Amino acid sequence: MKRTGKESKHRILILGGSGFLGNAIYKELCSYFKTYGTYCISNKQFEKNHQFFQYNFEEDDIYEILDIVKPTIIISALRGDFSKQVLLHEHLAEYVFTQKIKLIFLSSANVFDAYSKYPSYENDKTLSNSIYGHFKIKIENILLRLPKKQVAILRLPMVFGSQSPRIHEIIKNIKEKEPVEVFPNLVMNVTSDDRLTQQIHFIINRNKSGVFHLGSNDLVHHDDFIKEIIETLTLEKAIYKHVYTTNDERYLAVLTKTNKLPKHLQFESTNILEELKIN
Ligand SMILES: NC(=O)c1ccc[n+]([C@@H]2O[C@H](COP(=O)([O-])OP(=O)(O)OC[C@H]3O[C@@H](n4cnc5c(N)ncnc54)[C@H](OP(=O)(O)O)[C@@H]3O)[C@@H](O)[C@H]2O)c1
Repeated sequence: MKRTGKESKHRILILGGSGFLGNAIYKELCSYFKTYGTYCISNKQFEKNHQFFQYNFEEDDIYEILDIVKPTIIISALRGDFSKQVLLHEHLAEYVFTQKIKLIFLSSANVFDAYSKYPSYENDKTLSNSIYGHFKIKIENILLRLPKKQVAILRLPMVFGSQSPRIHEIIKNIKEKEPVEVFPNLVMNVTSDDRLTQQIHFIINRNKSGVFHLGSNDLVHHDDFIKEIIETLTLEKAIYKHVYTTNDERYLAVLTKTNKLPKHLQFESTNILEELKIN
């Protein structure tokens, strides 16, 4: 028998539940689990939804929300000030440890952005030369000190999807006859909000943990992929701005070796393009 939200054993708190990914995760999980979210900027839609709490990690104490929700799983899908996010995750790690619950953290392929010559796998040592990558590594390292069963670190490549800020920006640039930036030397893998939310649902249902690399199985050049998106959406002719950061190819790709999800949750970059056609 399928569990309904009310019978389900989990109480899930999504930090950043109003964001692009946090909200996609909320919509995927809310019919199956008691699911709660946070938003930061005042917003009528979330004020009306009693599952949502207004929360600003720069000002507010997370313990108040934790005391009300008593989550069994926390999903961290935040953006914002790096050092304050690090502090928040130190507090979350302590709470997760003492309450014996689980934390799912959305990390990024950027934790490997100093390795430009190869794609990266789950057990590779992280190394970054960007501020963003450094910050994600710092939080990962705090979480990796917790018992393994209590943490899932999800490293994501660029996320596309019909409602993604990336696609919205491409459409806006074309409408306004502004150039669309492409990085011809960048070799990457990709994902979408739909694929990611299905994978997270599976990780929760099967109580999986550890480090996951959640991108397509194949690699694409950034410029080719963006051009294919524009063709797929049959948008008007775009003006491209080719940005070369190095002379050589640069990889920003997270592939799987040791912590694979089952076949039906794996995908290719063409699947992401096909989904854009449908939506
Ligand atoms: N999108 C991608 O391509 C991608 C790729 C790799 C990794 N990731 C990771 O996935 C996570 C989510 O990304 P996203 O694209 O969904 O971001 P997003 O749409 O910008 O959402 C960010 C969330 O953080 C909240 N937030 C911002 N400042 C806050 C503050 N001071 N206090 C409390 N909440 C605050 C926002 O709330 P309001 O909107 O209400 O202000 C929103 O809910 C991030 O950790 C990101 O690093 C994303």
